[in-house]
Amino acid sequence: MVPRDTIRSGEVWSDTEGRVIQAHGGGILFHEGVYYWYGEYKDGPTRRSPVDRVDVIGVSCYSSLDLLNWKFEGLALKGVDRPGHDLRPEMVLERPKVVFNRKTGKFVMWAHIDSADYGYARGGVAVADSPAGPFTYLGSVRPEGRMCRDMTVFVDDDGSAYHVYASENNATILISKLSEDYTAHTGVYAKAFENKFWEAPALFKHGGRYYMIASGQSGWAPNPARSAVAPTPMGPWTELGNPCAGGKAGTTFDSQSTHVLPVAGRPGAYVFMADRWNPQNLRDSRYVWLPLRFAEGKPKLEWIDSWSPDQL
Ligand code: GAL
Repeated sequence: MVPRDTIRSGEVWSDTEGRVIQAHGGGILFHEGVYYWYGEYKDGPTRRSPVDRVDVIGVSCYSSLDLLNWKFEGLALKGVDRPGHDLRPEMVLERPKVVFNRKTGKFVMWAHIDSADYGYARGGVAVADSPAGPFTYLGSVRPEGRMCRDMTVFVDDDGSAYHVYASENNATILISKLSEDYTAHTGVYAKAFENKFWEAPALFKHGGRYYMIASGQSGWAPNPARSAVAPTPMGPWTELGNPCAGGKAGTTFDSQSTHVLPVAGRPGAYVFMADRWNPQNLRDSRYVWLPLRFAEGKPKLEWIDSWSPDQL
């Protein structure tokens, strides 16, 4: 494979072996000089009922030193074809995020686990000793006894971790503080954007403040992104509006947020990661990655056909 030197959103993106990257609804962990990209491995047929979905296969892991060339490390968490198991094929496994716990030395994955009709609405957790896994699935919960669908995990500089998820039938975002080992909820949580139907949350810290980028709720169809700022991960959150500018700002450049990655060694440089879903053929959903900048104290996203992380 010819090494890649630019990111070209919306194009087919292949790994170092030439296979199309399957890491949808994903997130990136930077650990000991290596980026690990985890996401939904959707290389199967799209089933049209009750909602467009692909049978659970697992969570992929890819590694890279430059954010451009990605080596497939295999399935970090595999589906389990056993009746009653959360990860059986006919379930839904979405938006996996992996964080590293400095105290325990373990890698912790949270993901949205659901039934095919999205009625199960839980968060599933798995742990591993190394970034590529294999992850051991510990089970799923309704955090704080509440629904959990689109979600992310954020680790603050002090090591505190937060589970951020669409709850109350997707009407409200909940932010739960996780236990010291990151595998459980603590009962400490806050509500944000009540009855505003925010989804696909991504959280990051910039200049001592916390920023969230999210989507609205329209299934696989894109909608305008939204953003907000807060003095603590728990809030209070102040809305900052749609961070996108230019053509297609109204559809987040035909994509939906999944993660905001701080670029290692470049303070103030961030990559906005999003999915351009193809509900007819979900495995052909593409990736939209754009530089995230700040303008007048707000995150700003503009389309760029081709760019390199070196330019950030
Ligand atoms: C979206 C959500 C995706 C997926 C989809 C299913 O709203 O962000 O992760 O769950 O709905 O229709």
